[in-house]
Amino acid sequence: MTLKISVIGTGYLGATHATCMSNLGFEVIGVDVDPAKIESLSGGTIPFYEPRLQELLQTELKSGRLSFSTDFNSISDCDVHFICVGTPQVADGLAADLTYVFSALEAIAPVIKDGSLVVGKSTVPVGTAARLRAKLLEVNPNTDLAWNPEFLREGFAVEDTLNPNRLVVGVTSSKSEEILREVYARNLAAQIPWVVADLPTSELVKVAANAFLATKISFINAMAEICEAAGGDVTVLAKAIGYDPRIGSRFLQAGIGFGGGCLPKDIRAFMARAEELGAEQALEFLREIDSINLRARSRMIDLVRRDLSEDLRGKKIAVLGAAFKPDSDDVRDSPALDIAVQIQAAGAIVSVHDPKAIPNARARFPALNFAESIEACVTDAQLVLHLTEWKVYREIDPLKLIGLVKSPIIIDGRNALDRDLWRSAGWNFRALGRSEN
Ligand code: UDX
Repeated sequence: MTLKISVIGTGYLGATHATCMSNLGFEVIGVDVDPAKIESLSGGTIPFYEPRLQELLQTELKSGRLSFSTDFNSISDCDVHFICVGTPQVADGLAADLTYVFSALEAIAPVIKDGSLVVGKSTVPVGTAARLRAKLLEVNPNTDLAWNPEFLREGFAVEDTLNPNRLVVGVTSSKSEEILREVYARNLAAQIPWVVADLPTSELVKVAANAFLATKISFINAMAEICEAAGGDVTVLAKAIGYDPRIGSRFLQAGIGFGGGCLPKDIRAFMARAEELGAEQALEFLREIDSINLRARSRMIDLVRRDLSEDLRGKKIAVLGAAFKPDSDDVRDSPALDIAVQIQAAGAIVSVHDPKAIPNARARFPALNFAESIEACVTDAQLVLHLTEWKVYREIDPLKLIGLVKSPIIIDGRNALDRDLWRSAGWNFRALGRSEN
């Protein structure tokens, strides 16, 4: 008989996971304490932007396999329960806030049936899974808890969930592994690597992967600083070192650095947890990774000041991009928005454009000015900043734009625009980490 699956927490991760599990053929119920989210998802609308997800959600709702509810009792006959709630950074420190994970477990533990398996997917500090498992077994000793970290990237959430590059399962019994093998049978048949680990290792895999990715980005941004000081070009440097397969070319895009709901908070929570474990020295380098990352934002502002004779007051600056990365409307810890807000605070008249993230950006920073089109954004600008590398910005015809601005100066904060094209159209083109700044 096909497994029945519940997904607890229907935010970014949970909504995607529930929809994709239904697509794999399982009967799925997504549960959340937020009635607005449940109403929106039940009606076939995802409350955020993610390519492909909305269409897939509508297909799965029509199939009759997928439903959503605010009632935790509705999951009582499910065989597998995925916990997909958020673990944001605490307000008063670097650690992860585990309130939602523990309250999710407390809500489901009394209602789930004997023999069922709870599977954590949220990113948690190492040791959390064991604590959750102990709590669960206190309430219902005939259940078990496993860990199955999620590596999905925003913008590719559906693809990464349906075709992950690996599946990692932290288990304490072969029975739990068997259940997870059944859930992921289609991926296993497609030869997707299956890594079986203990609970702490499975929790660590996720934060180690994110720490590595953050390190790679900050490494290339550190090289960008050196290139600027020495008159080199970081884009050529990245290309050249990337040909070495031991290094690889991905995640070597220098610019204003990483943001979003994962990398920044995850490296900080990792450091906080290492300190609790008495192993803080091992992750001391992540402090530097964080600093290099934040410095990329100030280096961008330094470039802006250099171009506008230091005093930003009254200067009209157009900002292309508000999301923390393209193909997402997520503005959590967005380097682009952070820079926009800082230059506005320094007196500049800032206009921000983004193809998808304006509503979220406006909700967070209502005092910023937003433009509905690229043209409106850059009209009369004395400086244009390219801060999120959306495809529509890469496709801009610089010849068309030049007639709209007051001074044709652009700074590419993502090293994604074609410098030669912009220069030949008459623009004064600068970028982070490249000579001629
Ligand atoms: C990340 C991980 O990639 C994913 O595996 C994990 O599950 C969640 O965190 P995500 O937050 O969606 O995913 O974004 P990612 O694509 O990793 O980019 C993170 C940030 O790094 C973005 O702000 C992006 O602009 C920046 N970045 C990425 C760079 O500055 N340079 C690069 O070369 C790559």
